Amino acid sequence: MTQDELKLEVAKAAIEYVVPDTIIGVGTGSTANFFIDELAKIKGKIKGAVASSEATAERLKGHGIPVFDLNSVDEMSVYIDGADEADAGLHLVKGGGGALTREKIVLAVADKFICIADDSKKVSVLGKFPLPIEVIPMARSYVAREIVKRFGGEPVLRDGFITDNGNVILDVHGLKIVDPVALENELNSIVGVVTNGLFAARKADVFLCGTKNGVETLT
Ligand code: 5RP
Repeated sequence: MTQDELKLEVAKAAIEYVVPDTIIGVGTGSTANFFIDELAKIKGKIKGAVASSEATAERLKGHGIPVFDLNSVDEMSVYIDGADEADAGLHLVKGGGGALTREKIVLAVADKFICIADDSKKVSVLGKFPLPIEVIPMARSYVAREIVKRFGGEPVLRDGFITDNGNVILDVHGLKIVDPVALENELNSIVGVVTNGLFAARKADVFLCGTKNGVETLT
């Protein structure tokens, strides 16, 4: 099976977690896009969705799925999104697509987080995928120096990329993340950091992992 076929399988499996007559949160990326296309087939069963990026909002609207502003939503049954890495404890690295801040905000409102990914994203220790950090542009050099001083690693500015929030991304290479919750909190304490791509304090509740033998449900 190709990676895209595995992504499609987990996207289909995630439809089981969509709660009828509710608003759901939708992530960003190629796996989330497969999910949106599957969601379109049952769009009459939900009230609508909150998007974690402009790209996701456009895709949802393109399918005729109502898109809600998060400020008008106080309850969300489920948030469904991909990941760049997942460990056995369902802590994640996200933000490869640069949507990490809005993803974390939408997730914060949701009752349940269903992560969908193919099994190439499963790791024993997080950090092989460079950790994305969204930074206020004027703080970019300061934040990079602080990261090197406090945690090591090599922050690299994502070239030519501006987030939906008008900020830049530092991708930190070479971290070995043994305590993801602690690192998530410590990175957020650096002035100028908007969000980091560790989804550990609020991790996935369910990981639907696409393998050549079918979809594994990890909890
Ligand atoms: C975007 C993300 C994505 O979920 C992550 O990058 C995985 O993307 P894909 O499904 O394309 O592999 O966090 O900010």
